[in-house]
Amino acid sequence: MILVTGATGLLGRVITLELIKKGKKVRACKRSGSDLSDVRKSYHFYTPKADFFFDQIEWVDIDFNKHQSLYASLKDVEEVYHCAAKVSFDPKDSEEVLETGITSTRNLLRACMYMPVKKFLFVSSAAVLNVNKKKIELQINQNYKAYSSYVVSKYISEKMIWQAYKEGLNTVIINPGMIIGSGNWKKGNSQMLNIFVTSRFTFSGGTSCVDVRDVATVAINLMEKNIFGERFCISSENILYKDLSTRIRRMMGLEKPIVCPKILLKSLKPLRLILGMIDRKARFLIDENIEFVSERQYYNSKKIKNRIHCSFYSAAESIKFHYGNYLAYKSGKKLNENL
Ligand SMILES: NC(=O)c1ccc[n+]([C@@H]2O[C@H](COP(=O)([O-])OP(=O)(O)OC[C@H]3O[C@@H](n4cnc5c(N)ncnc54)[C@H](OP(=O)(O)O)[C@@H]3O)[C@@H](O)[C@H]2O)c1
Repeated sequence: MILVTGATGLLGRVITLELIKKGKKVRACKRSGSDLSDVRKSYHFYTPKADFFFDQIEWVDIDFNKHQSLYASLKDVEEVYHCAAKVSFDPKDSEEVLETGITSTRNLLRACMYMPVKKFLFVSSAAVLNVNKKKIELQINQNYKAYSSYVVSKYISEKMIWQAYKEGLNTVIINPGMIIGSGNWKKGNSQMLNIFVTSRFTFSGGTSCVDVRDVATVAINLMEKNIFGERFCISSENILYKDLSTRIRRMMGLEKPIVCPKILLKSLKPLRLILGMIDRKARFLIDENIEFVSERQYYNSKKIKNRIHCSFYSAAESIKFHYGNYLAYKSGKKLNENL
């Protein structure tokens, strides 16, 4: 049995689907308020046998703070894909991001060490590689102007994963760039993908992006090949937000984006609460977010490509597929018309 946490999320749902397609038994974690209908619908983007595969998933409610819930979820489980995390750059979610990221990983790891779990894959973020490059030691409860709670939570979680590896659990870490996927449009990181469409403003920095299908394939490959005690950056292409936004908006028939330079974002920062009353997005104008979107967060995937000989969808292919799905979702068309 395989356990996937965050299985209702953009990535977890695709890992779950791919495992089920391979004939594996998957227990997928959700919460009482999770939207399973969105998961089912989005499977139609990925396969013509969406309902058939969806119906094979065993769903379980998980509470990372409750031992009973963790041990029940891990019963008979040999492999874990830990995808759950609160993905948000909204300052109001800061504590929840840290709490969910760190506590869930710590409690899950402890339970796995106690249960007969053999393999554990942790989904971190490419943003952590930037911290490592600068040789900085991040700690909880410190206010970093350059790093969001999200990055701190991933950094500290990775340390726990390395420790668990030293203590005998077969762990592997993946560090994806910005994931482009279908479904979950109003939540999590999909909100960010949504912003390229709903807002004409974009940023001066750049990001490393990757298709959700590639992240899922790599994750499953690493576990199948028993590659542990390592971490792998997963990125298809490095791209300026301006270019990403232009491509997406062109596909939607929208005007070109307008770049907000760092200096402008900084000058608007003191007004963020007032501006936030007009447009909620202005609330995101805090130092760490401004730094993040104004820098070029560029990474490469040489290591994973050499190791498992994979190739990735280009940004153009990902945009065409997933934003095509987005358009279908928005216009309420039959979902698998896009396949
Ligand atoms: N998307 C990206 O661009 C990106 C890039 C790099 C790394 N990552 C990492 O990849 C992983 C998956 O990201 P994603 O884009 O799939 O995120 P997502 O779409 O926001 O999904 C997050 C998942 O985590 C679950 N979750 C959140 N808080 C939880 C809690 N307290 N207890 C239990 N479950 C909880 C959510 O469940 P509900 O459905 O109940 O909310 C959902 O299933 C995350 O670890 C993320 O940090 C993402």
